[in-house]
Amino acid sequence: MKLADRVSLIEEAATLATAAKAAEMKRAGIDVVGFGAGEPDFDTPEHIKAAANRALAAGHTSYAKPTSGIPEARAAVCKKFLRDNGLTYQPDQVIVTVGGKEALYLAFMALLNPGDEVLLPVPYWVSFAEQIKLCGGVVVPLVGSDATDLKITPKQTAAALTPRTKILVFNSPSNPGGFAYTPAKTRAIADVLAGRDVIVFSDEMYDQLRYDKLPGGASGKSGGKLASIGWRSRGGLFGGAAAGASDGGTAAVATGGISVRGAAA
Ligand SMILES: Cc1ncc(COP(=O)(O)O)c(C=O)c1O
Repeated sequence: MKLADRVSLIEEAATLATAAKAAEMKRAGIDVVGFGAGEPDFDTPEHIKAAANRALAAGHTSYAKPTSGIPEARAAVCKKFLRDNGLTYQPDQVIVTVGGKEALYLAFMALLNPGDEVLLPVPYWVSFAEQIKLCGGVVVPLVGSDATDLKITPKQTAAALTPRTKILVFNSPSNPGGFAYTPAKTRAIADVLAGRDVIVFSDEMYDQLRYDKLPGGASGKSGGKLASIGWRSRGGLFGGAAAGASDGGTAAVATGGISVRGAAA
């Protein structure tokens, strides 16, 4: 059977192909370190396994109700935002998804019309580009230079804006860049977007896994519209993530559980 045309738009995930290749090399007895899929080399901590077992034993095995996440989980995300980012959210501004990939895909699906442009800093985590294409968006690469340690600049961001620009994907700490933006650099990029109808997808997946002690989380620093994509933590790596929205302004968009507001930051 002929597959849908949209399938031909996307390429195989390079991370998974690399992981498969590394596994194959290991099986062949080659001493290789895999830098493909971002999986930790430690097991899920005991207290998390115990909590999962307790939930199973208590019969929490059917659909989450509501499907956007049980109230306790959404309230916990709000608590995290307030504690770490100084942002006040309400549980109805949060959805809990099966991993960051789903949060991102739903957010792209909810916002992109064919031809809408998405600014994507290079180097980027491979799934961003494929998801944008699947959702009908146009990838506009912002290529970091050696002079800026591969980071994008406010000037470059401003120069890439067109009337079709809808989203800036901002991933700090960056995978695969391995660097993080300072709060000042994040603010300077946010300032370029302030007052424009462009939303920042802030992928903070590795914010809890940094060792430089710098305050992280772009969500606290955006001067514009923002959807935060979720986090992994040292306590245990979950696929679970949330798409939230920063608070403090007038509601701009509210789609399918992802409410997006103008942020006062
Ligand atoms: C930058 C970035 N965002 C999002 C994700 C997706 O995370 P998940 O495994 O929760 O879908 C990854 C996974 O490697 C990632 O590196």
